[in-house]
Order: sequence, then C-alpha cells, then structure tokens
Amino acid sequence: MPPINVDDYRTLARRRLPRMVFDYLDGGADRERGLAHNRKAFDAFQLVPHRLADVSTRDQTVNLFGRTLPTPLVLAPTGLNGALWPDGDVILARAAAEAGIPFALSTASNCTLEEVAERAGGDLWFQLYVLGRSLAEALTKRALAAGYKTLVLTVDVPINGKRERDMRNGFAIPFRYSPRAVIDGALHPAWLMGQLRHGLPQLANFAVRGADDVNAQAALMKRQMDASYAWDDLKALRDSWPHTLIVKGLLRPEEAVRCVEFGVDAVVISNHGARQIEDAPSPLDVLPDFVRSVDCPILVDSGFRRGSDVVKALALGARCVLIGRPTLYGLAARGGPGVADVLRMLRTEIDTTLALIGCSRARDLGPDFIRRTDAVPRPPTAPV
Ligand SMILES: Cc1cc2nc3c(=O)[nH]c(=O)nc-3n(C[C@H](O)[C@H](O)[C@H](O)COP(=O)(O)O)c2cc1C
Repeated sequence: MPPINVDDYRTLARRRLPRMVFDYLDGGADRERGLAHNRKAFDAFQLVPHRLADVSTRDQTVNLFGRTLPTPLVLAPTGLNGALWPDGDVILARAAAEAGIPFALSTASNCTLEEVAERAGGDLWFQLYVLGRSLAEALTKRALAAGYKTLVLTVDVPINGKRERDMRNGFAIPFRYSPRAVIDGALHPAWLMGQLRHGLPQLANFAVRGADDVNAQAALMKRQMDASYAWDDLKALRDSWPHTLIVKGLLRPEEAVRCVEFGVDAVVISNHGARQIEDAPSPLDVLPDFVRSVDCPILVDSGFRRGSDVVKALALGARCVLIGRPTLYGLAARGGPGVADVLRMLRTEIDTTLALIGCSRARDLGPDFIRRTDAVPRPPTAPV
C-alpha cells in the first residue's frame, strides 16, 4: 500500500532507519508527554463549515514578507538531516524550492550553508544557534555573504533538552561504534549503504581551521551553546543583520511584543517539537493570546501532521506553519521523492479542508471557521 498520510511515512522511516537514528528524529524530551500534548492541542478545536459557499476554485496562497507563498508552509530548521539520507539538507532545500516555499537551514546542518545556497537555491533562511558570540557573528556574516535573506534566531535552546531515547541509544556526534550501533546499522542495509558511500555526516558549518575533525565539532556543539545570550544580544543582532529577522521558540506573547519593539520582523511560536521540555504549552494553546497582542506575522510549529492542522492554525490567526518531522519522515523513507510527496499530501489536505469548510481562500480563514471543542453551545434563539 503506498503511503497516504504523514503517519504512513513515519512507519516507512522507522523501517528504513536504524533505531538510534529514528529515535533521534522522532523522540521528545523527558517522558515525552509533550509529543502527545502537541497532538492533543489540535483536538481542542473544531472546524465549523459554511454551507452553500462557492468553493469551485480554491486558493491556499498566503503573503509573507511581501512574497506570495503557494501554500502556507515552510520547512523548519532541523539538524543532522544527513543522518537520515545522504545530502539531506540539499534534498530538502531543493524540494522546498520546487514547491515554492522557504527552507530553513539549521546551524547544525551536514552541508555548509554556502554549499546549500549554491546547489539548491530557492528562498533560503538560515537558522542561528548561538554557540558563542564570535562564532555566531562569523556564521551570520557567512550567511549574508552566501545570499541568505532571512535569519532565524532560535531562542529555546540555551542548553539541549534531556532526550532520553538518545541517552539510552548512546546517540551522539561523533557516532560511536558500539556493538549495538553496529548491529543496528547492519540490520538496515539500505540506510547503511548510503552512509558508507557518502561518509558519516559532520557538522559541516563548524569544519573550520583548528576544529576540522568531528570530535572538535562535537565539543563546539556541547561546550559553546551560549546560555548567557539575552535581550541585549538580540538588539546587537538586529543592528548587524540587514534583512528579515525571525525569532523562533517563543511561548509568551509579551516576549513577542518585545521582539517587535526590537525590530524583529516575525516570530515563530514553538516548543521545538517537544524536544526541549515536555510540559511546555503547545503553540496552539497560546496562539490566540499572541494574535490579540502581537503586531507582526505569527508563524507556528510543533505537532502539525495534517492539512486540517494547518487550516486550524490559520483560522486562529497564524500566517503560516513550519513543518519539522513530517518532511523528515519523507526524507528518511524515500529521499527527495518522499519529501515532495509529503508536501504534496499536506497541500492536498489543506485544499480538501478548505473546500469542506466552505472557504475558497486560505487568506479568508478566521475565527468564524473555528470553535473550541469544549465551547458552550449557543442557547437556541427563540422562534419569532
Ligand atoms: C530531528 C530534529 C532536529 C531539529 N533541529 C533543529 C535545529 O537545528 N534548529 C532549530 O531551530 N530547530 C530544530 N528542530 C525543531 C524544528 O525546527 C521544529 O521546531 C519542530 O520540529 C517542529 O515540530 P514537528 O517536528 O512536530 O513539526 C529540530 C527538530 C527535529 C525533529
């Protein structure tokens, strides 16, 4: 049976990847209650259809930073894409370019930011982790020189969350050749052959002079996450970055308001796909508060698996949605065609949902199309 939804791609990804790699992709922080909560948050809302609306043509375009996106999706920044499929960063970036949507390249990518710009093109965003101020400055300058027009500062990783699956599996960079890891790899020959052909993935952006082996990169990653980075640093970043600046990882509307005061162009409400702390709110829980108080495009991610999830977020006031794991499942299962297929499925599901709720343009989505599942029904109006 060919895959018909994102969950099917998750199953295929689980089959193709060694357990250690699948767990890195799929897992969350602590006891992983956050993963379930992110999904449950969608159950708290229902879409309320309008009938007898002309939906013979549908338009799911949205505007973002003066551009029209053909669908309200962005590929979220994710590290170690090359562990899922060789050249994963370039494959994802090309699929995004093909679909006409932005791709955010992680600081922890396996291809350098310059290589992705050269080989993929499209609307490329660069996501910044601050591992140290001077390193961040150098990366920002490189992104600017390579032609990136959007910088995404991730603010929810002062340190890494406690990912227990990774701890149990001994998942780390550099990959450790424990007997278990070797057996795990050998049992997944399709994955193993790809990795052997291309060499184990490295944190390519850090393969710089004086730190050009994978151990040094790991040390950089662990030791230099700069947990002291704060509001003043954001101000300095704003002053130094001449193009669009997005802050990713907010869960408090008042901080989004402050970001706008600092000149930030958009925010991403995110709990990092429940990979940092398990009991944080889901973006959907807080989205209405953001919409009430923040005057900039609001992007969201964490837990989106269906087109109807995306439609709910737009009806609640989000401009567009960042997709993390779904396209990674596609990548891990089938490479580029898998990513393209997941994007096609999501677009089709968005289109179907728009038709079925009587909304011909995604831009017209609003509170009128959505209600809380536990909302008290309106009392019946008295007959006149
Ligand atoms: C395997 C993996 C790696 C990630 N790496 C990064 C990263 O390097 N930088 C970042 O800002 N967010 C990272 N994220 C978080 C995503 O950008 C996004 O917030 C999250 O995946 C959204 O949740 P979803 O996976 O449920 O769609 C990562 C997520 C996953 C699943």
